[in-house]
Amino acid sequence: MDIKVAAGDIARASVPAIIVNLFEGVKKPGGATGAVDTALGGAITQLIADGELKGKLNEVVVLHTLGRIPSARVAIVGLGKQVDFTLDRVRQASSAAVRHLRGKGVSRAATIVHGAGIGGLDATESAQAVAEGTLLGLYAFRKHKKPPEEDSEFQELTVLEQDASRVAQLEAGVARARIIAEATNLARDLSNEPANAMMPADLAAAAKQVALSMGLEIEVLEKAQIQAQGMGGLLGVNQGSHHPPVFIVMRYRSPGATHPHLGLVGKGITFDSGGISLKPADGMQDMKSDKSGAAAVIAAMGAIARLKPRLCVTGLAPVTENLPGGGAMRPGDIIRIMNGKTVEVISTDAEGRLILADALCYGRQIGLSHMVDCATLTGACHVALGDLYSGAFTNNQGFLDQVLKAAEQTGDRLWPLPMPEEYKDQYRSDDADIKNVGGRYGGAITAAEFLGEFAGDTPWVHLDIAGPARLDKDHGYLLKGATGVPTRTLVQLALNMAAQS
Ligand code: BES
Ligand code: MN
Ligand code: ZN
Repeated sequence: MDIKVAAGDIARASVPAIIVNLFEGVKKPGGATGAVDTALGGAITQLIADGELKGKLNEVVVLHTLGRIPSARVAIVGLGKQVDFTLDRVRQASSAAVRHLRGKGVSRAATIVHGAGIGGLDATESAQAVAEGTLLGLYAFRKHKKPPEEDSEFQELTVLEQDASRVAQLEAGVARARIIAEATNLARDLSNEPANAMMPADLAAAAKQVALSMGLEIEVLEKAQIQAQGMGGLLGVNQGSHHPPVFIVMRYRSPGATHPHLGLVGKGITFDSGGISLKPADGMQDMKSDKSGAAAVIAAMGAIARLKPRLCVTGLAPVTENLPGGGAMRPGDIIRIMNGKTVEVISTDAEGRLILADALCYGRQIGLSHMVDCATLTGACHVALGDLYSGAFTNNQGFLDQVLKAAEQTGDRLWPLPMPEEYKDQYRSDDADIKNVGGRYGGAITAAEFLGEFAGDTPWVHLDIAGPARLDKDHGYLLKGATGVPTRTLVQLALNMAAQS
């Protein structure tokens, strides 16, 4: 899929379709949409008057131009009410428009930059949002399925700008979008892969591939090294699987930059059966996406290497299956995390916090100044916040504010949840330092607090992505299946931290 930027007038573009836009409630369009309307003898105004075009967010209406302008079709995409307009709506509308055209068999189109005119958005940012929405919205996981004969591919989008002096700005936005959307789509690919095609060794190989092609340092700790590090959480969870664990370390270093040193930590359970605390069969197949956190971290590291912010970033991913083989960890077993803390395993299905505990200890040992972990950690978080919001937890409000700011920029939806001291009693154990389950109520919170035991005083944010990591229906440019959340926010955070330091 190619995205070009060119100087030119959309009304004169000779392509199968042009994409213009409309705010909800507007009776007579202005700007580029107005110029196209005039060239079509008021056809768009007529559609509005007839109530067939309202400008509602993501609404798409296609008109055939019958030779009145060089383009064969005009797609008008709704942006919603102007007072509610955001950059994320540009992503959404761009996604809706190209998906609609693809559905009609159209493979090439030209578009204006939504929002850069009366929307009042920055030209580079809105061009980035147009390209991001397009690339994210056209994603499909087709590795194991032959596409139907009639399935057309969308091949080329040209972003047109009247003012030639702004072309370079738009090109910068499109180039950035490509890096970020490609990373997100890679995270989706890694997460969508079924567990038989994405064993821990395969995820390590994918990370090596990213490192090699983007110019990152990578180290993959194998089982013996994981043992030598004393990572009892990762080893314990791995016991029930026939496939060895890996611990992936990816390093990005901007020349001369030493501080901050951001750590990105992702849960990499390639399949979560629950282990001996076996999950119900219904829906268990979705647990192939229990590696979504690791997938986001690996992909984000690749994007960071391409964007080259001035800071250090290290990506960490503990990776294993959680299966109930004969050697599996049992409820009641007591294991020892890398920092020496002992954990009584109440449920082998609360495995994410065990492998992340080791990863956070490792992060502290290598001297990370900040850590963000992302994990499909608890069904409780999904219940609390639904499909679209990830829970956000922290031991440092200032750092959380930075993560929330990055998420606001990318459109990833995060919602802060509390970590009250009182709830920590819930994971006290009689026989070990702590236990891995804190009871039924506030399950997302006690899981976060468990992780907090290992983050220590390093500024840390935990993102519980159990809801948004995988969706069972499309939501705008977040498509059914693995969404790649929060890849874009991790990248944005690194860019923002570099800009501040
Ligand atoms: N990977 C699951 C959480 C999950 C559930 C993610 C559904 C996405 C969708 C996690 O390992 C898990 O099993 N958590 C348990 C914890 C419980 C045993 C304390 C849960 O949420 O039920
Ligand atoms: Mn589990
Ligand atoms: Zn899990």
